Amino acid sequence: MSELVRFGVSLEKKLLDKFDNFIRERNYTNRSEALRDMIRQELVKKEWVEGEDVAGAITLIYDHHRKDLLGRITDIQHNHQQVIISTQHIHLDHDNCLEIVAVRGNPAEVQRLADVLKSIKGVKHGILNMSSTGKGIE
Ligand code: NI
Repeated sequence: MSELVRFGVSLEKKLLDKFDNFIRERNYTNRSEALRDMIRQELVKKEWVEGEDVAGAITLIYDHHRKDLLGRITDIQHNHQQVIISTQHIHLDHDNCLEIVAVRGNPAEVQRLADVLKSIKGVKHGILNMSSTGKGIE
């Protein structure tokens, strides 16, 4: 862990009140912890824009009864093996499957994979959780 540094911040009273309300709603115990998370969130966004190696997860909800879907989703994953580190398939209920694809690598490739998977007909919901390898946010 790197050295802890204190610094002062000046801001308008109204803005600070809003910030304090916000961090209370989000269950932060103090302003520092909330601010750290907000800074890291911005740094992660920057990693995605600047093409640094990123990590994350694509989650898909799809119709179990569409037997063609599993094959298509699997084929696509084989074609994007370079950014996939793990896949988990969960039989959510009688009708729905949940698939979690853990990804790491070039952000453009990860985004392309997510777009392809989400756009498959029969995929009810798909979302890319854009996170970080952790290296750029220490
Ligand atoms: Ni299933």
